[in-house]
Amino acid sequence: MKINLKEIKQIAKSRFINSISCHDWDHVMRVYLLAVVLAKKEKADMAVVKTAALLHDIKRAEEMLSGGNFCHALEGAKEAEKILQELGYDKDFTLAVKHAIEAHRYRNNIKPNSLEAKILSDADKLDALGAIGVGRGFLWCGRHGSRLHNTDKKSILANSPHDKNHTLYTEYMVKLRFLKNKMFTESGRKIAQERTAFMTKFLKRLDSEVKGKL
Ligand SMILES: [Fe+2]
Ligand SMILES: [Fe+2]
Repeated sequence: MKINLKEIKQIAKSRFINSISCHDWDHVMRVYLLAVVLAKKEKADMAVVKTAALLHDIKRAEEMLSGGNFCHALEGAKEAEKILQELGYDKDFTLAVKHAIEAHRYRNNIKPNSLEAKILSDADKLDALGAIGVGRGFLWCGRHGSRLHNTDKKSILANSPHDKNHTLYTEYMVKLRFLKNKMFTESGRKIAQERTAFMTKFLKRLDSEVKGKL
């Protein structure tokens, strides 16, 4: 099916004017590029993967402003359906993109049931790992005035992302190191393992420097 990616990209980008760094348009483009790599390896429907990647976080800014009770995956999926219907795309294509978007979120209960949805979910999670994950972790901590490093067990158990004791290390202990087990595709799993290994090494080094050992 012929899709006008330029037009879809333009519409998607226009929804990111008020976005914040970890989930800005740069995040969308990283997810898009990785999703294309995964789609090639897994032989998925490229048009569905590309369109879903471009539109997957169009409601993210609203979720950030809502203070809860708003799922950007569910609302974004509905919005994407509306956009694609208005652009005249057929029903099967539109519903395939819609499902990938509604199932991409780590926390909601909708599981990806198509290869394309699995790829989007994997690409989105992979953006929290590796060197990008380190960068994103520090961006988050900077915005919340958090400490550079903290290995205190109480902070790990507390798991309070908005607390100044919540750092890249505590996020890694609570969530990031387990993401590799939540991959749906073989290609995604391989990249996740490599990115997690990098992150583990980085955090060990950071800990050594903080303790004055290096
Ligand atoms: Fe998302
Ligand atoms: Fe995302």
